[in-house]
Amino acid sequence: MEQQLEQLKQEALQKIETAASVKELNDVRVAYLGKKGPITDLLKGMGKLPAEERPKMGALVNVVRETVTTSLEEKMELLEQQAVNEKLEKETIDISLPGRPVKLGNHHPLTRVVEEIEDFFISMGYEVAEGPEVEQDYYNFEALNLPKGHPARDMQDSFYITEDVLLRTHTSPVQARTMAAKKGEPIKIICPGKVYRRDSDDATHSHQFTQIEGLVVGEDIRMSDLKGTLALFAKKMFGEEREIRLRPSFFPFTEPSVEMDISCFKCGGSGCNVCKKTGWIEILGAGMVHPNVLEMAGYDPSIFTGFAFGMGPERIAMLKYGVEDIRHFFTNDMRFLSQFNRTEV
Ligand code: PHE
Repeated sequence: MEQQLEQLKQEALQKIETAASVKELNDVRVAYLGKKGPITDLLKGMGKLPAEERPKMGALVNVVRETVTTSLEEKMELLEQQAVNEKLEKETIDISLPGRPVKLGNHHPLTRVVEEIEDFFISMGYEVAEGPEVEQDYYNFEALNLPKGHPARDMQDSFYITEDVLLRTHTSPVQARTMAAKKGEPIKIICPGKVYRRDSDDATHSHQFTQIEGLVVGEDIRMSDLKGTLALFAKKMFGEEREIRLRPSFFPFTEPSVEMDISCFKCGGSGCNVCKKTGWIEILGAGMVHPNVLEMAGYDPSIFTGFAFGMGPERIAMLKYGVEDIRHFFTNDMRFLSQFNRTEV
């Protein structure tokens, strides 16, 4: 029996040694130490032994059982450690792999032009003022020297909401509001924002578009100040060599009124398709604030004078970037938008 035990021990230790996985090792444990295993059988068989041999054999069986159990535990620990190591190895991240590029968005071309214009005027000491897009007839027209029934209202076909409320047709009402709020203080603002007109959409017209207007009110503000400001602006937006020219025009809220052209940035003035062979490109409307407008807002026109100008960033963006259809700005086609690379901002 002793021999049998020794053999069992050797067999078990051998199998533990060669077990290559946790599962195999478990099988070994069940086979040798389980309820139906040979060691249990031996213990059960002790009853048949003569009484004086029992303690000795009992002790021997226990020693074998402990040896096998310890060996099993050690091997189990080893296998588990191996399994963890293998898993760690498999899961290592190869940091030498090149990353997947993250797609960056870019500013909408209109936003860029508006910000470029804002930056220029802010650098000249202007503040940015904003106002409501749903506007009162009073600020959109009346306070700008366009009383009800004035024929010049037809210049700006409007979306009326009620008889006295409409979608603003220009950003000039922000000027009227600012003047009313400043109550006689000097003013130097630009007003960017969306405006609405009842136009049929085509390549150069849109029922919704953007405007930036400027207003300067103070003592001794002159036409030459307006001209100098616009000349600098033209150079900043379209290049150092740009010349400007002012042509007489009409706006009910300015007197005198002008239209500003810049010398063509493509041909330099000799005539091309951009300037329609004239050498000049129309950019904006401007003028000296009409005394009626100053007076309605509480400024004494014998002391205060001012100039104002207004432009359409869509038109400027179309010229700058060679965009042939204004609707591209509003249809959000990625093929169009992704051409305006972020690095140029
Ligand atoms: N508000 C005018 C327009 O929308 C533009 C303008 C503004 C003209 C300021 C002169 C002075 O047509």
